[in-house]
Amino acid sequence: MKKQKLVVLTGAGISAESGLKTFRDSDGLWEGYNIEDVATFDAWKRNPAMVQEFYNQRRKAILEAKPNAAHIALAKLENDFDVHIITQNIDDLHERAGSKKVLHLHGEIKKSQSTANSKLIYDMEGWELKMGEKCELGSQLRPFIVWFGEAVPKIEEAAEIVVRADVFIVVGTSLVVYPAAGLVNYVAKKVPIYIVDPGEPTVTNSERIIFIQQKATIGIRKLMDDYLLV
Ligand code: APR
Repeated sequence: MKKQKLVVLTGAGISAESGLKTFRDSDGLWEGYNIEDVATFDAWKRNPAMVQEFYNQRRKAILEAKPNAAHIALAKLENDFDVHIITQNIDDLHERAGSKKVLHLHGEIKKSQSTANSKLIYDMEGWELKMGEKCELGSQLRPFIVWFGEAVPKIEEAAEIVVRADVFIVVGTSLVVYPAAGLVNYVAKKVPIYIVDPGEPTVTNSERIIFIQQKATIGIRKLMDDYLLV
C-alpha cells in the first residue's frame, strides 16, 4: 500500500533541546544580538566581518550539537510514512538524525555562498569561514543563509509539497516569519494539522488543528502514540 504523505514544518524549537537557542523565546535577542543587526543583507554590507564571525560561532555550536529525540522520531516515521521535512532551520540535525527528504527554506549553515552569484554554493569543511575566502568568480564567500529581506528561492517547491500532504505537522516555530508561515494555508481541506509547541497556540481558528502543548521531544512521542501510529 502507498504510504501516506506526512509533511512536517519545523522551526528553531525542534533544535532547542539540542542546546541551540530559538530566536524569539527569551528576551527577544538572539545570542545577544538583534536579529536585524546580524541577519540582513544591510548588516553584511555595514560590517561583513562581524556578520561572518557571528555565523562562524553559530556554525561551531551546530557542529557540536546532536540531534535530539524529536529529530530521531521524525526520521523513524519514514518506516510508516512518506515523510517530507520542510525546515526553517539552518542546522543539519534532521539529516544527522537520518531524515532523507529535508528542504531548507532559510539556507544551510554548513555551506557558503558566492556574493557575486547566489547560485554558487559550496560545502564547507569545519566551522570557520574567513574574510578573504573567495568563490570561483573571485568574490567574497558569505554564509549560505537567507537573510531578512532576501527572496526565499525554495518556497514554491515547499508549497507544492504541502499541497499534497495527507497529514501536516508543525513543530517548534512561532509562525511569524513569512513566507514560511504562509505554508499552512496550502494544506488541503480536511487534512489534519498537528502543532507541537510548548508556547501558547497562535493558530487555533480551525477544528482540524490539534495543538499539543509540549516540548518537541515529548510532543512528537505523544503525537505518534495518540494519533499517527494507532
Ligand atoms: N520544543 C518545541 N518548540 C519549542 C521548544 C521546544 N523544546 N522551545 C521553544 N519552542 C517554540 C517556541 O514556543 C516558539 O513557538 O519554538 C518556537 C520558536 O520560534 P522562533 O524563535 O520564532 O523560531 P522560528 O519560528 O524557527 O523562526 C523563524 O525567523 O529569524 C528567523 O530565519 C529565522 O528561520 C528563522 C525564522
